[in-house]
Amino acid sequence: MTHVGDDRFAKMLGDLYPYGKTTTTYHRVPAEPVDRAAILAEIADMAHAEDARGDRGTVSGSLYCGDHDHYHFLGEVFDLYSHANVLQRDMYPSATKFEGEIIAMTSDLLHGTGVGVVTSGGSESLITALYSYREHARQTRGVTRPNVVMPVTAHVALDKGAHWMGIEVRHAPLTEGYVADVAEMSKLIDDQTIALVGSAANYAHGLIDPIEEIAGLALSRGIGMHVDGCLGGWLLPWVERLGYDLPLWDFRVPGVTSISADTHKYGYALKGSSVLLYRDKDLRKNQYFTYPDWPGGLYVSPGFAGSRSGGILAATWAAMLATGESGYLAAADGIMRTAVTIRDGIRADIPELEVFGEPTFLVAFKAAGDLDIYLVNDALMAQGWRMNPLQLPPGLHFCITRPNTAPGVAESFLETLRGAVAYAEQHHGEPAQSGAVYGFGGTPQGNAMVKAVMVGVLDAMHEVAPDVPAS
Ligand SMILES: Cc1ncc(COP(=O)(O)O)c(C=O)c1O
Repeated sequence: MTHVGDDRFAKMLGDLYPYGKTTTTYHRVPAEPVDRAAILAEIADMAHAEDARGDRGTVSGSLYCGDHDHYHFLGEVFDLYSHANVLQRDMYPSATKFEGEIIAMTSDLLHGTGVGVVTSGGSESLITALYSYREHARQTRGVTRPNVVMPVTAHVALDKGAHWMGIEVRHAPLTEGYVADVAEMSKLIDDQTIALVGSAANYAHGLIDPIEEIAGLALSRGIGMHVDGCLGGWLLPWVERLGYDLPLWDFRVPGVTSISADTHKYGYALKGSSVLLYRDKDLRKNQYFTYPDWPGGLYVSPGFAGSRSGGILAATWAAMLATGESGYLAAADGIMRTAVTIRDGIRADIPELEVFGEPTFLVAFKAAGDLDIYLVNDALMAQGWRMNPLQLPPGLHFCITRPNTAPGVAESFLETLRGAVAYAEQHHGEPAQSGAVYGFGGTPQGNAMVKAVMVGVLDAMHEVAPDVPAS
């Protein structure tokens, strides 16, 4: 029996293996070493081809920096410590310098108290924070059925962490302005609530939740509050310094007890680093693990990871130094100018679209009428633009990064977007190719089918290219 979507699913899986027919597929370790130059050449071909679109400035989010000189420099730094295991501080005491200073610089930016840890990315920071709150609530209030209260737009890594750790997630709806509805959050709190969460800014719409109100609520109920600044944490402080009108969202707000800020996004570091800051050491120590009785020796570990590469720490530290305040400010200036041009251009000239709320560096939009926004995305994709599709409600977002700030990119995007809207009007009622997976959802059967498809994709992502004879 064929199902609606079988073709699309097959295509989705096929797209996972573009190199299946053009490169050797390894099912086992090659018997003899492959020539290093050949390996490098093959990787370089793939890397250059895959980078090309991002470098043209037509991609939302993902790249953040885009400066290949910077990447090369970070690569050189990484090279010096790539093999170093920072768990072994007697061998690599430089790790303490790098890690402590990364935390200090991030804390300074966010008006923190200098307490934090470095993690592998936003998800690890969020999940670790959740763990610390769960333990804190268990120890101080005897909480045994923990729940966390957050708006539906809070990052899904929190749902993942809660799923792994047996924490119930209570999702609050949004206001008409698409930010957390604090009154609704308040109704979801009970004596088992371990923390409240807000974002600065959230992934879907790039909006800053009313952090002062949420933190005030947290204080009044005697619980902690995490601000997910994974996306905005390393950008919004510079935007504020440039004079843009932003609400307070960092440790200047009483009641904010932890913040995550990803250095591998707008910190312009290599992928694999984020900072989780705490207001006090007491909360942080929940994530520490010490085990003095192991035959392998005294074991101390600050977080989820065991061995960690010194290369990431060194490169993150080097990214901060090599960019400097003036570099971060200049980047933020370009990003904001581009975002404002796009936001205002949509509002002024494309009445078929509606911008979500009051954006800063990420502009999300949806159809103002019955336009199919995924058809708009089809047309954008055909012209080489890669947006991030949203659902509930359907929309697209353009997270502005440095490659998008090149002269003419914003104007060219607006022109293509106008054409894409015209395309969607002409093809009204036809099924869209992009974002189609969302089209299956919305009903229990539909969502079950989406889940099955997603599991199939995850399986496929961990397998070699199909239809390739074993070598
Ligand atoms: C607001 C927000 N939080 C958390 C994350 C998760 O970060 P990571 O992909 O580094 O795990 C993201 C990623 O885009 C994000 O935008």
